[in-house]
Amino acid sequence: MSVDRTTDHTPADYYERIAAAYREDRFGNSYGRFIDAAERRWLEACLTRRPDGPVLDLACGDGRFSDRADLGIDLAAGMLRIARDAQPGTTFARADATAWPLADGTLGAAFCFHLAMHLHDAQLRTLFAEAARCLKPGGLLLIDVPGRLRRRLRPHRSDIAHWHGHSAHDVAEILAMAQGFTLDCADGLLMLPLHRVPTRWRPLCASLDRLLCRLLRPLASYQLIALRRS
Ligand SMILES: C[S@@+](CC[C@H](N)C(=O)[O-])C[C@H]1O[C@@H](n2cnc3c(N)ncnc32)[C@H](O)[C@@H]1O
Repeated sequence: MSVDRTTDHTPADYYERIAAAYREDRFGNSYGRFIDAAERRWLEACLTRRPDGPVLDLACGDGRFSDRADLGIDLAAGMLRIARDAQPGTTFARADATAWPLADGTLGAAFCFHLAMHLHDAQLRTLFAEAARCLKPGGLLLIDVPGRLRRRLRPHRSDIAHWHGHSAHDVAEILAMAQGFTLDCADGLLMLPLHRVPTRWRPLCASLDRLLCRLLRPLASYQLIALRRS
């Protein structure tokens, strides 16, 4: 689904417009299901040890992973409506990822999927400052970013700066921005162009992809980064 320049002034405007179709559009085909499953696996692995306090799903969208969170925030009211219906056990609020409506030092963990790519560096720094403010010492922040190295090799064709998937970072850049955090672990997601592989070959290629991501993590399309509050 493409950006409509007449109505989509911010990423949140875009997601507001496509809220009802988002899940099927992004995660309805086998490629999307692969990404969804891989992210879910990483999230579950990172949260295996029970966080010492509530868990926040930042930019929760339609609540794809909000079953793993106590709280969810997003800017698009349409996405939040779907999330509330889908996850009645989670509390949702409309808020910006750069201004969390939470008290200092109250969260056990926070995770944030598919948002960083829409943010300018200044916004990303503010997001990390909010995470540092709201997480308890030892709390985890999980975030994914499009990989810088991969983008250098395969530049993104878009004339809309900092729009979908436009920003890219490597782990060292994220660590430099995330004051008050140390690196817990980093993983890669998507090395091969799985969407171009015939469906019957995908399971085999998906296993190969996982192996390549482990061996050549900086080259993966997405960097999955777990940061720990000092
Ligand atoms: C690609 S969706 C990801 C949703 C969900 N995290 C997932 O992985 O399915 C990006 C989400 O970020 C939200 N968003 C965009 N800018 C935001 C901001 N500044 N603060 C909070 N949410 C924002 C959008 O409304 C949208 O729901």
